[in-house]
Amino acid sequence: MKHILVANAKGGSGKTTLATNLAGYLASTSDKVMLADLDRQQSATQWLKRRPTEAPMIHTLQSAGKLTNTYDWMVTDSPAGLRDEKLADAVKDADIVIVPIQPSAFDIGAAADFLDVLHQEKAIRKQKTFVALVGSRVNSRTHAAVGLAEFMDDTGFPVLAYLRNSQVYTAAAEQGLSIFDMRPSLVAQDIEQWSVLLDWIHNTHQE
Ligand SMILES: Nc1ncnc2c1ncn2[C@@H]1O[C@H](COP(=O)(O)OP(=O)(O)O)[C@@H](O)[C@H]1O
Ligand SMILES: [Mg+2]
Repeated sequence: MKHILVANAKGGSGKTTLATNLAGYLASTSDKVMLADLDRQQSATQWLKRRPTEAPMIHTLQSAGKLTNTYDWMVTDSPAGLRDEKLADAVKDADIVIVPIQPSAFDIGAAADFLDVLHQEKAIRKQKTFVALVGSRVNSRTHAAVGLAEFMDDTGFPVLAYLRNSQVYTAAAEQGLSIFDMRPSLVAQDIEQWSVLLDWIHNTHQE
């Protein structure tokens, strides 16, 4: 099983959007997928409850019980403010940490601190856990987007996607869907923005 943690100490950075869409994508590839939710707000769990029965199945940690090793993927959504011991444990458990970052000075400042902490985590230093960055709600050709790109490129972590600000994410979330479950003509441009990230997730950290 490959375990992907979606984390960023900042609230509203796009963690739940990333985690639910990633789980939806992986489920659409017919792999067995589990979505774990460490956030007390339980947004990912609520999303799963809204999910139509005809959409590709995503399991919860509860329904999986002790059989977690029969899954191909586990995606963990995490709360804002994840730090110290809890962050270290979550990072150690994961093969991959994906950090979504929005293009604003506040988000970049918070992300800089969070990425410094990640750089110091033992599992990451020893390359047992790999980190990737994703620009979240990025409208290209804006000043803010350029600032975010410069910041992310300087961190030393791979930058694997820029996801535009798009109503399809809000519409999908309301219906318990990912963009990968929606009519292709509606989401073609958005799905294209995921391709490098999805390739990397499949290929990185193969034993
Ligand atoms: N790419 C996007 N386009 C449009 N809205 C987005 C996008 N990413 C996130 N959002 C919206 O931004 C808000 C915060 O995102 P969310 O995923 O809940 O962040 P977090 O889990 O980090 O708090 C939500 O209302 C979500 O629907
Ligand atoms: Mg969230």
